[in-house]
Amino acid sequence: MPTRFVTRPSTSEPGAPDPRLATGETLRWGVVSTGHIAHVVTAQLCALEDAELHAVSSRDAERADAFAREHGARSAYHDDAAGTGVEHLAADDAVDVVYLATPHAQHHAIARTLLEAGKHVLIEKAFAVTAAEAADLAALARARGRFLMEAVWTRFLPVYQAFVDHVAEGAIGTPRWAQADLGMRATFDPDSRLWARDAGGGALLDLAVYPLTWTAAAFGLPSAIAARGVLAENGVDALCTLDVGYPGDGRAQVTVSFTSAHTRSATIGGDAGVVRTLGSLPNPTGFTLTRGDDTREVRAATPAPGYTYQLREVTRCIQRGEFESATMPLRDTLAFMRCFDDARAQLGVRYPNDDAPPPSLR
Ligand SMILES: NC(=O)c1ccc[n+]([C@@H]2O[C@H](COP(=O)([O-])OP(=O)(O)OC[C@H]3O[C@@H](n4cnc5c(N)ncnc54)[C@H](OP(=O)(O)O)[C@@H]3O)[C@@H](O)[C@H]2O)c1
Repeated sequence: MPTRFVTRPSTSEPGAPDPRLATGETLRWGVVSTGHIAHVVTAQLCALEDAELHAVSSRDAERADAFAREHGARSAYHDDAAGTGVEHLAADDAVDVVYLATPHAQHHAIARTLLEAGKHVLIEKAFAVTAAEAADLAALARARGRFLMEAVWTRFLPVYQAFVDHVAEGAIGTPRWAQADLGMRATFDPDSRLWARDAGGGALLDLAVYPLTWTAAAFGLPSAIAARGVLAENGVDALCTLDVGYPGDGRAQVTVSFTSAHTRSATIGGDAGVVRTLGSLPNPTGFTLTRGDDTREVRAATPAPGYTYQLREVTRCIQRGEFESATMPLRDTLAFMRCFDDARAQLGVRYPNDDAPPPSLR
């Protein structure tokens, strides 16, 4: 029987209540960023019974105020002569936990400031730019006894957990190979978050965690990676293919890009069948299971909006005094970050963060 590589979160247990319902005392949240995903996730955060949006921080006063007004935050912090918005938010004793959604290159420095101030932190993917930054944050969170997690929301979706169940219960026999791809056509703009070197741009860091999340359902964590790609004129990867080896004989091929249309799907083949996701890879509607000539569809209801499930996990862990999620452990984040370092070395992609190692390594 194949192994279940991803621990089931409470939100996917049979008969689990709506993830918006409270599981304990109310947590007071801060949000760092006023960008695209910060708006989407904060709206879903505010729907949790036991979440209070306490503060937002931005580099800019007007953006901070507008975000606070829109989502009902009590405090709006911004950069000023006395410090950065992040420093002001970190100094606010009323904030328990912070959702950090800036570009990748800023994740490490900002998360460090927050952890040192005693906040629990949920960091958007990519968790950091380098494996050294990721290891530094994991060590700091453990040393300070604070919760830390990468916001890989897909892991907490009922559809993902149903997919993991099918693979682990032998629906396709022993998994042998996987293929997964994700991407979109994005016009090259060296100043945008997606492409800028000083933002940690490039398809690998932005997208690869999603296909690797699906191949992890079959094989767990990678043991070897071979990367090829196409670089943009500023040296970040526009397209990247990963040939991934796993302990045992499992193999996966992963493609991510900003250059093209994608199937945005994952397929896993075993010696008795094949599973293939339906809908877009980060948030599919279901999957097909094919054995011989028989194909059937499996759908998993997602009654709450998609980001709610990871927000429930963060909340539940903190309420119980747990500093890591068993479903999205730091071990997995560190393993993926080491893969990305390795892949970037093969592609020849370097960022300013590579030349500024974290304090623990200086
Ligand atoms: N989970 C998902 O589905 C999902 C989807 C999209 C993106 N993401 C991730 O979320 C993060 C943000 O992506 P996004 O699309 O929301 O980006 P975005 O719209 O560009 O927003 C990023 C925000 O970060 C702040 N920021 C920008 N540059 C900064 C800097 N140098 N230092 C500090 N703060 C800076 C800005 O807010 P202020 O100007 O107010 O400071 C900006 O609005 C990335 O890690 C990305 O990979 C996740």
